[in-house]
Parts: sequence; C-alpha cells; structure tokens
Amino acid sequence: MEPTVITEISDGIFRLSTFVPEVAAPAGFTFNQFLVIGDDPLLFHTGPRRMFPLVREAVSRVVAPERLRWITFGHVEADECGSMNEWLAIAAQAQVAHGAIACSVQLTDLADRPPFELADGQVIDLGRGKRVRYLDTPHTPHAWDAGVVFEESTATLLCGDLFTQVGGGPAVTTGDIVGPAIAGEEMFHYSSLNPNMGSTIRQLATLAPRTLGLMHGPSFSGDGAAALLALADDYDRRGRQIRPDAAAA
Ligand SMILES: [Fe+2]
Ligand SMILES: [Fe+2]
Repeated sequence: MEPTVITEISDGIFRLSTFVPEVAAPAGFTFNQFLVIGDDPLLFHTGPRRMFPLVREAVSRVVAPERLRWITFGHVEADECGSMNEWLAIAAQAQVAHGAIACSVQLTDLADRPPFELADGQVIDLGRGKRVRYLDTPHTPHAWDAGVVFEESTATLLCGDLFTQVGGGPAVTTGDIVGPAIAGEEMFHYSSLNPNMGSTIRQLATLAPRTLGLMHGPSFSGDGAAALLALADDYDRRGRQIRPDAAAA
C-alpha cells in the first residue's frame, strides 16, 4: 500500500487516494475518499475498516477528523463504508447520511448512531457555499442502495464505483475515462446490469458535471455529461446483449 495522496480536485473538494498494487495486480487499484469542506465537513467514502488509520491521517492533513459532520458513500460495502463506526466514534457530531433504502435495509442496524435519511434529490447545505445533493441510483453500478452526490457550487459529481478502472496514474485527467471504464467492466463484471441502468446514468448527465470524482480511478475534469452519456450507451449495449428482446435505445 502506498502513501495516501491528497489532491484538491475542485474548490474545497479533496481527493484522498491510496494506490494498492496488490489489488488487480499487476495494474493495481486506487481507493479514493473525498472530503468536501464547508462549515460542516463531509466525507464521501470512509475506506475499508483496515484502512481507517491511513484515511484518518489523510483527513487530518485537511481538517481535524473530529470536526467531521457528515459521512456518506456510494453504497454499503467494505471499501465504501467499512470504517463508518470508527468515524462515528472519533467525531461526536458526525452522522451517516444516505438514501431511504440504505437507511432502512442496512444502516439503521449497522451504524452505531441512527443514520440521517436523505430523499432522492435532497440537498445538505454544508455552509461556505457548499451544497451537496444526494441522488438515488439503485443497482447502478451495483447495490440496491446505491447513490451518488453532486456538489452544486463546483459541479462536482462524486460518482462512486461508476467508471471504475484499474491502475494508478494521475490524480486528475482530462483524457478518456470511458474506455478504461469499459475495460474495468470487462475485467471485473462488477455492475448489476439492469434495464434502468442507461437511463439512471443519463439522468446524472443532466447535472452537467465539470468534475467527476471516481472512487477507483483518477478524477476527471471536462465534459462530465459526455462521459456519462457514453458510459450509459455502453451499458445499454451490454443490456441488449443479455436481453436481445430489449428495444434499442
Ligand atoms: Fe462497490
Ligand atoms: Fe468501490
């Protein structure tokens, strides 16, 4: 495991990235958390439980960990939220926030304090101009409880496992992220292919994000909508392959 690299990908939004060469070797794999700094700091992804000391140290280089107010993540899996209770233990004000499915099916039981339930489209005002909108993306790319968050002032979409790619590389790219995402899908088959996948991703494109924060891969700076639309097209293509009766999009 290599040292965690911190990069400000948008004004007040920090990517904490740990490259793990052993995962998906020989290419390796990144695990990224995102810290959105307002009066009420928000952490998107906690990292796996065993990575907690590393992530806590990285967070402390940006903000005092005990000041954390919100903990949220793409969906309930170890790399997304494995250390949420460690965070709740050190940050007295912190609360896990997620959509209705995650809260009712998972977090009411798994989180050590009651979660804060977010409606689809609900905004958390973090102060200092930072507004984080939560969006349900069920089963996209996987997990019933899946969701993403969009920081409105910077047009930054923290898109969780969408666009997952292997390898290290730069913190921020303006290059192609769709080709590497398709290669990642071919390698891992991590997505829950479903008939709504293309439309769910196209709905995210309407946000016109200027920055995409990938959980596993670089952050992308540029036309986020175009990248999302191309990814949606690829998933529709895959869907037609497994459901040849499905109408062409
Ligand atoms: Fe995942
Ligand atoms: Fe992940």
